[in-house]
Amino acid sequence: MADQQGYGLLKGKKGLIFGALDERSIAWRIALACKREGAEFSLSNAPVALRFGDLDELSEETGAEVFPCDVTNEDEIEELMQNVKEEHGKIDFMLHAIGMSPNVRKKQDYKELNYQWMQQTMDISAISLHKVIRYADEADILADGGSIVALSYIGAHRIFSKYSDMNDAKALLESIARNYGSRLADRGIRVNTVSQAPTRTSAGKGIKGFDGMYTFADKIAPMGNPTADECADYCVTLFSDLTRKVTMQNLYHDGGFVTSGIDEQMINDLAKIYADDEGDE
Ligand SMILES: NC(=O)c1ccc[n+]([C@@H]2O[C@H](COP(=O)([O-])OP(=O)(O)OC[C@H]3O[C@@H](n4cnc5c(N)ncnc54)[C@H](O)[C@@H]3O)[C@@H](O)[C@H]2O)c1
Repeated sequence: MADQQGYGLLKGKKGLIFGALDERSIAWRIALACKREGAEFSLSNAPVALRFGDLDELSEETGAEVFPCDVTNEDEIEELMQNVKEEHGKIDFMLHAIGMSPNVRKKQDYKELNYQWMQQTMDISAISLHKVIRYADEADILADGGSIVALSYIGAHRIFSKYSDMNDAKALLESIARNYGSRLADRGIRVNTVSQAPTRTSAGKGIKGFDGMYTFADKIAPMGNPTADECADYCVTLFSDLTRKVTMQNLYHDGGFVTSGIDEQMINDLAKIYADDEGDE
């Protein structure tokens, strides 16, 4: 869909998109979909990501200005919001697609978490949602009737051992979305999280065992894992006026994974595997 003609769902809307690093990033695909639907927006990422990523390419393709900002640094967030204000005045949508855990990166066992790293995980991946909403609000750039979306993962509710303290961070992220959503609701501003299935991106690749998690979800979900472009289309609907009263929700975009148990095919396959095992004994 991202390459096709859009529906003009975001015509006249302005936004701010965090987290596009390279063309596989979910935020990158969302930026392309927003452009296709007629939006104007700015892009932001950490200074180090601007040095090593390909954001200039996306900026050229979408005509979006790029503003550096490490979301753990409040001064940088404050400055970013002033830059966005000068660029757009008010914004109608904001995407938080930011996540990183030093414990996951360095393969630290959950029972032996490094707490300093854990605090970094929380700050970068969850508390930053509070910070960017707060400083956008204080700069008075959030338009009434707008929409804020942060990307989450089912690990917030279920145990995915390799996701380690990112499971905890996503639980906090979803809680912040609900709590801030309740405080912005009187202005018609929605705050939601989209819980996306495993997707092959830089952040995904950084998780040991990611391929196993990807295949497991893909096999269980009746529709299979949705792609980053499909996630982008879903996010467009949430930024649009078609979802004006959807707020304080965690919305699954996972091909049906979250409500699935086991199907006939899998029962038969498992029965075969275990029959073979018994035969080997
Ligand atoms: N890939 C998956 O399987 C998957 C599944 C569900 C949810 N998500 C979530 O989607 C979001 C986007 O991740 P992605 O998979 O597209 O990977 P990605 O690596 O492309 O994006 C993560 C982004 O976070 C940015 N970031 C890290 N530290 C930062 C900081 N201090 N300040 C500002 N930005 C910082 C990175 O530069 C990067 O652009 C994340 O929240 C991730 O947890 C990913």
